[in-house]
Amino acid sequence: MSHACGALAAALVGTAEFYQRQPHASTELSGFVMVALIVETLLGFLTFTGSLMAMGKLQEVLPQRPITYPKQNVINFLLFAIALGLGIRLILVPTDTYLFPVFGGLALVFGVLLIIPIGGADMPTVIALLNSYAGLSACAMGFALDNKLLIIAGALDGSSGLILSIIMCKAMNRSFTNVLFGAFGQIQATAVKTENRPVRSASPEEAASILEAAGSVIIVPGYGLAVAQAQHKIRELFDNLTRRGVDVKFAIHPVAGRMPGHMNVLLAEADIPYDRLFEMDDINGEFPQCDVALVIGANDVTNPAARTDKGSPIYGMPILDVDKAHTVMVIKRSMSPGFAGIDNDLYYMDRTLMLFGDAKVFVSEILKELPAKVAA
Ligand code: TAP
Repeated sequence: MSHACGALAAALVGTAEFYQRQPHASTELSGFVMVALIVETLLGFLTFTGSLMAMGKLQEVLPQRPITYPKQNVINFLLFAIALGLGIRLILVPTDTYLFPVFGGLALVFGVLLIIPIGGADMPTVIALLNSYAGLSACAMGFALDNKLLIIAGALDGSSGLILSIIMCKAMNRSFTNVLFGAFGQIQATAVKTENRPVRSASPEEAASILEAAGSVIIVPGYGLAVAQAQHKIRELFDNLTRRGVDVKFAIHPVAGRMPGHMNVLLAEADIPYDRLFEMDDINGEFPQCDVALVIGANDVTNPAARTDKGSPIYGMPILDVDKAHTVMVIKRSMSPGFAGIDNDLYYMDRTLMLFGDAKVFVSEILKELPAKVAA
């Protein structure tokens, strides 16, 4: 949301500059300044409405599934081409003020149309990309206002957002073209399904016994950890198990949660030692030797379908190899799917135990069982 406001501010400043300088257009709206103003307002307006759409999807105010219609990419491309054409006309003839509202309006509409066909698990990348656009808009504003600080800050924001989106695309095995043109989303729309197969569930007492007997435990946090605000209880569980000599590690997927670094921030808030947090590539090799993988509110980032099911919307996304652990325990409230809206085969495996409940409540229940066992 912050970059939506930043982008809107940049676009409005650009608009104000364009009109304020009209009386001296021939001297104050040179080709260079006009290029900067057009880039600033185009990126600013489209980032504003695009970010609102992305926020609506994340907050579930708008449908998370991709909204598609025939010839969508052609229409989007045409709209962008018209906006760009008007921008070029304004650069050449800055006194054509009547064109500016049309140009700004098209940029606003383009922002909406650009984001609505993108759905599900591609949203993190899109947000990083919009952040980058907001930075580039501020950078262009710096050129228009001859403000070096804005140029530097905007360029840093723009490039870091771009680098982050590239890293996230890599983490999810996505290409920019697929992300931006909604191909992922279209597969997702047809792949949503839930299954009615039996699962094994366990009580907090059983879960506590398994954890107590384990030599090594890898905790896999996900979005549900944030919803439940269970980080402090997890810290208590970490302390308790560590005191018993259990080797406890945390496996962090790059897109676990709903924003970059979401899990790191939550776990840091509970003072969980940073050297116990391991990135996906560093920990995946340890799952086959690990006694218990304890998944807490994570779903998509553990779904083996990403490795095997070519029809799955998350096919190709690198996942945490939780299914390779000797025992898998999953804390979640129900069999509901995660962000990508798909069922998870992990839950139906013989060695998986479902621990149904709110993450904070369930971990508290496990903790109640653990001290009793120490005393016994
Ligand atoms: P998800 O796949 O979204 O799964 C979260 C799970 O948490 C849900 O299945 C839900 O099941 C459970 N849950 C919710 N509230 C809970 C609570 N109070 N207690 C216990 N469990 C609870 O999460 P993930 O595995 O972290 O994957 C992230 C997904 O979000 C990916 O698809 C990713 O692409 C996408 N995404 C990521 C980001 C970034 S940058 N991280 C941004 C936007 C989107 P129940 O309802 O059954 O409890």
